[in-house]
Amino acid sequence: MNFGFGQSHAKAHLLGEHSVVYGYPAIIAPLLSLNCKAEVISSDQTLIETDNFSGTMYQLNYRFSGIYSLLTELLKFFQQPDLSFKLHIKSNVPSKKGLGSSAAYSVAITKAFFDFFDYQYSDEEVYNFSQIAENKNHGKSSGGDTYAVMADGPIFFDSSKDATILKLDTEAYIVIADSGTAGLTSQAVKLVADNYHRDPKKYGSYFKEMGAIAESGREEIIAGDLVDFGDLMTRNQKLLAQLGVSTPYLERLIKIAIKNGALGAKLTGGGLGGSIVALASDKETANQIKSALSQSGATGSWISKI
Ligand code: PMV
Repeated sequence: MNFGFGQSHAKAHLLGEHSVVYGYPAIIAPLLSLNCKAEVISSDQTLIETDNFSGTMYQLNYRFSGIYSLLTELLKFFQQPDLSFKLHIKSNVPSKKGLGSSAAYSVAITKAFFDFFDYQYSDEEVYNFSQIAENKNHGKSSGGDTYAVMADGPIFFDSSKDATILKLDTEAYIVIADSGTAGLTSQAVKLVADNYHRDPKKYGSYFKEMGAIAESGREEIIAGDLVDFGDLMTRNQKLLAQLGVSTPYLERLIKIAIKNGALGAKLTGGGLGGSIVALASDKETANQIKSALSQSGATGSWISKI
């Protein structure tokens, strides 16, 4: 009996979501404690099982067409279009929270099938296959999430769709808090696209400024200047709000994080709900921000060292 295993993790955009779809850079941190594991075994009947789905390929196509397309392309690549298999996915990456759960699924599944077929893969191949699902899920995907859920350190994802790991000398922590409402990435991406097409000059200038913020962020983070990096996060949030993807509750959580010592805070991922990310210079402050956010109604919160 053949067996394959693949793993990935969550991510948080520190700077540059949405503008990254328009070719500007982004800084994205992996969240290694939130992971997604996929196992594939040969079986006489195909069954796909996750925490919220159990069914055949046909049923999968109806509910999760991105993953269906990914699986179809993987089986085609290995010239086994009629293969029967059991795919089991266990993930503690909260879904629809701006934390990259769809990319985490795609990468873990792709790696599991590569392992199943004993295929010596490159990161680029994992990326290309995973993007099949991501492009379908987001409508238009920058590819940044896919790199970040494979990376073991914060990445600078540039306009040529290449990712470099940023090396930090300084200790820094991020606090992620789930607002408890669903983030709607594909709707948010569409809303931003509609706004941009309605007024390209105005929205184009927001994207440009967000791109410049991410460029400066790279310098600040490498230099270990957390105060300036935090300011950039807060400036980025103001632009995300101008794009129309923030909500009053996300704004409230951001204010609470800053009041409790965050150097900067913003929504993370697609927005319209989902999560916020706040920057803290030490573990104690991170804990204080985390408990203040929980007391204010955040339904989940995590601290990650960057
Ligand atoms: O909501 P998430 O975790 O899928 O992040 C989306 C990030 C966007 O920049 C809005 C879209 C993209 O493809 O980069």
